[in-house]
Amino acid sequence: MQTGGGFFRPDSRPARDFSVLIAASTLLGASRDHPLRWLDLMAGCGIRSLRWGLEAKGASHQPVELWVNDGDQERGPLLAANLEPLQTCDGVSIKLSHQPAERLLREAYLEHRFFDLIDLDPFGCPNALLQSTLQAMRFGGVLLVASTDGRSPTGHDRFAAVRRFGAAARAHPSSWELALRLQLAAIAREAWLLGRGLDPLFSFSDGRTFRVAVRMRQRIRSGEEQQLGFLARCDRCGDQALQAMLDLQGWRPCACTDGCGRWAVSGPLWIGPLQDVSQINGLLEISAGLDAASSLGLSEGQDRTLAPRSRRMLDGLLADPGQPACCWSTGELSRRLQLKGPPAIEPLVAALRASGHSASVSGVMAGQVRTNAPLGILLRRCSEFDGKDR
Ligand SMILES: C[S@@+](CC[C@H](N)C(=O)[O-])C[C@H]1O[C@@H](n2cnc3c(N)ncnc32)[C@H](O)[C@@H]1O
Ligand SMILES: [Zn+2]
Repeated sequence: MQTGGGFFRPDSRPARDFSVLIAASTLLGASRDHPLRWLDLMAGCGIRSLRWGLEAKGASHQPVELWVNDGDQERGPLLAANLEPLQTCDGVSIKLSHQPAERLLREAYLEHRFFDLIDLDPFGCPNALLQSTLQAMRFGGVLLVASTDGRSPTGHDRFAAVRRFGAAARAHPSSWELALRLQLAAIAREAWLLGRGLDPLFSFSDGRTFRVAVRMRQRIRSGEEQQLGFLARCDRCGDQALQAMLDLQGWRPCACTDGCGRWAVSGPLWIGPLQDVSQINGLLEISAGLDAASSLGLSEGQDRTLAPRSRRMLDGLLADPGQPACCWSTGELSRRLQLKGPPAIEPLVAALRASGHSASVSGVMAGQVRTNAPLGILLRRCSEFDGKDR
């Protein structure tokens, strides 16, 4: 495969690996009465489509229409050459186009062509395309969304956050997580406008690109709107508080002893789970199955679907369903306590659980603990680890 100029990022391997597993997951239990439709909306050099066709489709007898699009006409010859191996793949029919994404999606909607999988991987913020993308999805389909707009949802461009997310975004030690939550909220609002519900499957970031996968449901789950809320943080004392939008009232005082602290409030953002643990387990099973099926044809040194880095990332997400939405940087907590260094995170999680609180190691940002323990308890548990187990 030729990557051509620009766009292909070796570092994005986990996202591509996960997309292969998601594509394979749509084959399970699919009806053979009609082909599945997968849409690589902004395909770049076509690496995802190629992997979906060669790896995800595998030996399945389910027919698949693979729609591959990139708005840039000049990428045509490269894309066509890269997709050549799929021409001989049984049961895969390729539809290659070079249209603006909006046009392809609107035409699909008008022609009643709905997709089981859409990968939306633009430059910058994807939100302008969310509504037309969701309208082109089949019920139960999966949407993969990437955003390289890091500035607005991490509080570095608050004006752009209002414009693009209709939300306040404030600087926060868990800024990647807040960006993911703002992205999920943007998708939720657009889905709800259509009367559809959503389940996040996984959410992760490397600090540069923010990626979420969501399954669209035909209906909104009862109480799903409770997942939209606000996260407040006081920069002076480090305290945090969370409220669902539906229950919004005044904020309790923060932990500043002189009463002079001020909350910086972010939201509305998604305060529900960031991943679905059972779905991630399902993806791991699929990965094992794909490896077993392909091992006969694997030559020496040939890669498996999940790179070791991708596997570690999935394991991290498995251990952290992403609830509650409050995460704490152990580095920050140790600085506030003037400890010699941050406490080891696993023992801290165990100690918090032992005191009756929910706690997990954040799968989104390293060195962060997710817990419902109040700040006072958290600081006390951290101080017990000073000098130990680091
Ligand atoms: C980030 S790259 C995609 C990378 C690719 N998905 C991968 O995994 O390597 C974005 C691509 O989107 C295309 N693009 C940008 N805006 C578009 C639009 N509005 N409609 C269609 N394609 C677009 C660009 O030509 C570019 O190739
Ligand atoms: Zn305070």
